[in-house]
Amino acid sequence: MDSIQEILHTMLTSHRLLHAYIALLILDNGWLLDNGLAKLPPMGWMSWGWYMCADNCTHNPNKCLDEKLILSVADAFYTEGYQEAGYEYIIIDDCWSERTRDEFGSLVPDRKRFPRGMKYIADYIHKRGLKFGMYTNIAYDTCMRYPGSRGYFEKDAKLFASWDVDYLKVDGCFVAESYLDHAYIDLGKALNETGRPMVYSCSWPYYKLFIHKHAANYSAVLPYCNLWRNYHDIMPAFGNIYYTLKFYEKNYENLYKFHGPGHWNDPDMLMLGTHSLTPGMSRIQVAVYAMLSAPWIISCDMNMVTPFDKSLLLNMNLIAVAQDPLGIMAKPYQVSRLTLWVKPHMPMKGDKYHSFSFTFVNFEDKFQYVTLPLSKYGISTNESYHVLDVFAGKFVLNVTRKDSIEVDVPPVDAVMYTLYPL
Ligand SMILES: *[C@@H]1O[C@H](CO)[C@@H](O)[C@H](O)[C@H]1NC(C)=O
Ligand SMILES: *[C@@H]1O[C@H](CO)[C@@H](O)[C@H](O)[C@H]1NC(C)=O
Ligand SMILES: *[C@@H]1O[C@H](CO)[C@@H](O)[C@H](O)[C@H]1NC(C)=O
Ligand SMILES: *[C@@H]1O[C@H](CO)[C@@H](O)[C@H](O)[C@H]1NC(C)=O
Ligand SMILES: *[C@@H]1O[C@H](CO)[C@@H](O)[C@H](O)[C@H]1NC(C)=O
Repeated sequence: MDSIQEILHTMLTSHRLLHAYIALLILDNGWLLDNGLAKLPPMGWMSWGWYMCADNCTHNPNKCLDEKLILSVADAFYTEGYQEAGYEYIIIDDCWSERTRDEFGSLVPDRKRFPRGMKYIADYIHKRGLKFGMYTNIAYDTCMRYPGSRGYFEKDAKLFASWDVDYLKVDGCFVAESYLDHAYIDLGKALNETGRPMVYSCSWPYYKLFIHKHAANYSAVLPYCNLWRNYHDIMPAFGNIYYTLKFYEKNYENLYKFHGPGHWNDPDMLMLGTHSLTPGMSRIQVAVYAMLSAPWIISCDMNMVTPFDKSLLLNMNLIAVAQDPLGIMAKPYQVSRLTLWVKPHMPMKGDKYHSFSFTFVNFEDKFQYVTLPLSKYGISTNESYHVLDVFAGKFVLNVTRKDSIEVDVPPVDAVMYTLYPL
């Protein structure tokens, strides 16, 4: 088995190679994203997972994508501790505009649902010290058939910049593969030329792989996007979350090299707060997302978040792992019938010994008991470690590499331990 030092060495070597490669691209193309943003995986809220295209507000006023909703999320972040915990971006997904551009060719926010426009919303969000995100598609239409940005990259980029947008999610529906391969670069360049730094979220690899059925070329994507979707949309249903997590497990070798500060694989939103997951399922999703160094973007009605959901979403021991500055994607192992994820992270003792986390995921309907010899999964030093049970919120034991950790993981649940060098 690889030791943590080996995992780390491979990680750091591949990062050095990436940076050399990026330097070559600068010589070659003259332009790269390089906006200095998303040094940590973005945290925030996005409308799609729960609200989807909630544009029929007369029919369903309680599930309505409008100004009131977006401002209420900003208020909840500001007053309920989310902002202090790191939640920052509030992102409006598809279905925000009028059905047609105006006579000058500009996108117009839906006049009923966003009567004061997007600059008003951006100002409201910024006054609370939070950041504002929006959405478009690289085709003529968005995925839900609202006007898309094809033919208008510069115009739309300027419009988003004039609204003080901080983050743009860009979808890739309805285009040919040959167009897909340059459109994300072209739109990114138009965003760059506005002079306003915006986190650039792409769906390029997802469309490449699942729609055009060709391997995603992550070296081509990495220099141009801050984060990118790899897999299908997440939905408020555990079956869907299960397939998403399995995708990252199976594709770890192909993905981890491209993952790090400023450029992240994105498994899509967290589905806590939607009353669709058991406590164990919720622990699985937050724990694995923390282990992956994935973005933590929630999508829910903030009024539906239960105290239990909130205790996970604001668990600072968990967030410390999710937002670790090294940004390493955990490595998966199959241990008996469990998936074990192992991740080295900060803080370090001296400049030598990392902390690291172990997360045991049980997808089965029976308890799974394992004894894990630490020397086989990372601890190769003579240091002792203080073991925190992340979900119990307490230190449970001290170990060295000669020890084993015993764990009995309940059905459809996760147990997470963080080991700090003593
Ligand atoms: C909203 O939903 C209602 C009920 O399904 C439907 O009658 C109405 O046409 C819808 N309005 C729009 C604008 O789609
Ligand atoms: C635009 O790209 C250049 C590098 O190509 C970068 O130095 C600059 O910070 C970028 N500006 C914005 C606003 O993203
Ligand atoms: C992936 O993209 C890189 C950078 O554009 C390119 O050099 C490489 O040939 C591509 N690989 C494949 C398999 O297309
Ligand atoms: C750990 O300690 C043993 C003896 O106590 C020693 O032989 C070994 O070299 C040490 N290993 C490391 C990695 O320091
Ligand atoms: C672990 O070690 C620390 C520091 O030596 C000590 O304070 C703590 O009581 C120990 N914990 C356990 C569970 O033995």
